[in-house]
Amino acid sequence: MLSRFKWMALAAAALWSAQAVADITVYSGQHKSGSEAVAQAFTKATGIKTTLRQGSSEQMAGQLVEEGERTPADVFWAEQITPMLSLSEIGLLAKLPSDVISATSGAGYESVPLAENGDWVATSGRARVVVYNPDLISKDELADSVLDYAKPEWEGKVGYVPTSGAFLEQVIGIAKLEGEDAALAWLEGLKKYQKSYAKNAVAMTAVERGAVPLALINNYYWYNMAREAGSLDNVKSRLDYIGHQDPGAMMTYAAIAVLEHSGNKDEAMQFVEFVVSQEGQQVFADLRAEYPLRSDVSSSFELYPYAKIEPPTISITTFDDKENALHLLEKAGLK
Ligand SMILES: [Fe+2]
Repeated sequence: MLSRFKWMALAAAALWSAQAVADITVYSGQHKSGSEAVAQAFTKATGIKTTLRQGSSEQMAGQLVEEGERTPADVFWAEQITPMLSLSEIGLLAKLPSDVISATSGAGYESVPLAENGDWVATSGRARVVVYNPDLISKDELADSVLDYAKPEWEGKVGYVPTSGAFLEQVIGIAKLEGEDAALAWLEGLKKYQKSYAKNAVAMTAVERGAVPLALINNYYWYNMAREAGSLDNVKSRLDYIGHQDPGAMMTYAAIAVLEHSGNKDEAMQFVEFVVSQEGQQVFADLRAEYPLRSDVSSSFELYPYAKIEPPTISITTFDDKENALHLLEKAGLK
């Protein structure tokens, strides 16, 4: 409630002092439709104009490192947490107020990861899922663990996307839960027996048209496809949520941060605050089938209940985790 009044008050103030605030530049690895809608709502609420620069999260993180203190960026919004880690490690992210940090880890969302250095905050959750084509494989035949899909008995049946940021986080998850040897064996098995795709959407479409029985993707791609198709009856494929704390039931999270070298930190902080507010989360949840991370916001998609996902507990909060996983990908010949 409080936040709703606050944004209304800000909107009123913006009408009176439109000139007093600076514009901000947001580097965004988030899917464009979501970041654009939130940025527009933010401008409407505050009068602060935003320039969005879209790109892959890891590429933009690399660009931010290169630009250092000369960066034109005020805010970085990434599809995953991992791109934040190298920036945090070298001090490129500004500390966030504690109420902003805790906005998306309240009741029901206690498992949402928190920044070790207090310099980024999660903005939405995504579930790792298996999308499968019931014409080619039945739900009963699916594996109980994502680790099985790298075994020879599954040869040729599984699509995966090694360049996806969520895949990298899944590798970190497997390494943490099962050990680095298990993670390497999983990657080597996928490489040897399974079909690699360039993008999640491409892998999903391959399943949808029956080119491969199943693929490892993020939940939201499928819900967005179903919405575009108009009805679930128009979609052939279905999702399998592995559950029981298997690494295949992993949640990954998008995250946002203010750049330490931003020249417009006040406005940048307001943007981040808006993204994790009830209003900002609702705008995003109306458009994208990712999980909002507040109990006062609900998705406009009929998402599989967040409380039923049973993800494993993994804390991906250190730079070393990411480096180790990248090293494993390289070793397996996937990078
Ligand atoms: Fe994505």
